Amino acid sequence: MINRTAIEKAKEHFGKLLEAQMERMDRIKSAPDWIDYSKLSPIKIGILPGDGIGPYIAAEAERVLRYMLDEELKKAKVYINTIEGLTIENRAAHLKAIPDDVLAEIKKYHVTLKGPTTTPRKGDPWPNIESCNVAMRKELDLFANVRPVRVPKQGIDWIFFRENTEDLYALGPHGIEVDEDIAIDFKLISTPGAERICRLAFEHARKNKRTKVTCVTKANVVKTTDGRFLESFYKIAKEYPEIQADDWYIDIMTAKLVDEKRRREFQVMVLPNLYGDILTDEAAEFQGGVGTAGSANIGKQYAMFEAIHGSAPRMVKEGRAQYADPASMIRAAAMLINHIGYPEKAKKLEMALDICGQYEKKLVITGRPTGATGKAFTDYLIDWLNNPGLEETWQGYVKG
Ligand code: IPM
Ligand code: MG
Repeated sequence: MINRTAIEKAKEHFGKLLEAQMERMDRIKSAPDWIDYSKLSPIKIGILPGDGIGPYIAAEAERVLRYMLDEELKKAKVYINTIEGLTIENRAAHLKAIPDDVLAEIKKYHVTLKGPTTTPRKGDPWPNIESCNVAMRKELDLFANVRPVRVPKQGIDWIFFRENTEDLYALGPHGIEVDEDIAIDFKLISTPGAERICRLAFEHARKNKRTKVTCVTKANVVKTTDGRFLESFYKIAKEYPEIQADDWYIDIMTAKLVDEKRRREFQVMVLPNLYGDILTDEAAEFQGGVGTAGSANIGKQYAMFEAIHGSAPRMVKEGRAQYADPASMIRAAAMLINHIGYPEKAKKLEMALDICGQYEKKLVITGRPTGATGKAFTDYLIDWLNNPGLEETWQGYVKG
């Protein structure tokens, strides 16, 4: 039976979504250019502790951040402060992914370091509000989700450029329950959206002397949107003739990441939002799991750095929060330090993280009293940061 009323209602809803997306296109096209951190004094860094294990690991990440930027803090070149209110309790009380006053506060900072925040889903005790990561990416137009994965011992040195504001996420909370039989969600790819993420991936390759950029889609089946993404990729690739451009489909790419010989050939990957979400979790597993991976959410005006895992409320309930691994958030802090203009310091922090987490492993985190606490692990890390033999030791480990 054809339900005309339901169709008309769906059409109207769809029309409104398109209006909002066309306005978003105007905003992308008229957005100011990249912020220049070297011209800011101070660079304002906000800490968003989050909820669940968030506040525990955020405290350790902040300690490391302050240690690494000690000189700059003293000279007032950077400023670090905590932004309150981005907790599931407060978000639920306001029935908002990000309460307005918290968002206004976040916008006063150039960059933020964010702990995990609970994302409710249908059936949870919390109201089904939108993920606050996703909301923040949209509100601050953080269009690039940059996720490096390195396992030097296995020749893995990947960096993923996951588009961060479009695809199935753009209209994630705005699908249509057409009638009791049909539910629809929307997948959206725009040319300005695809071009800017592809350009960033090629720029990264050029600056870092990487020789290949790989695009991942399912354009053989999802022809219109993934087709547009792929077309934009090859268009931008022409501006970078010295860099090889190729493309894979997401299914075979997922398989190839476990192919020990082939996977070494991948360098820079660029892909739509949902494929990027899934593929980067798989990739992080080779490095030791999502707990070891940091993630940068980058836009032209703002940037947010976070762990790629969730808030593990079960650990808090069972009284194990102090055993949560702060490494992912400390990796995110290293990416933040690099992004605001201190690549040498970031490199140093990454070397210490590699030594403590992948090589020496004098303290191991298990998430339980059988392992080290996050605080003890961070002390161990800071000991290595103080060790003049850090770089030499790291080189030795990597060469194996
Ligand atoms: C991530 C996370 C988020 C995402 C969730 C928490 C909404 O999985 O950052 O990868 O899907 O983007
Ligand atoms: Mg994810």
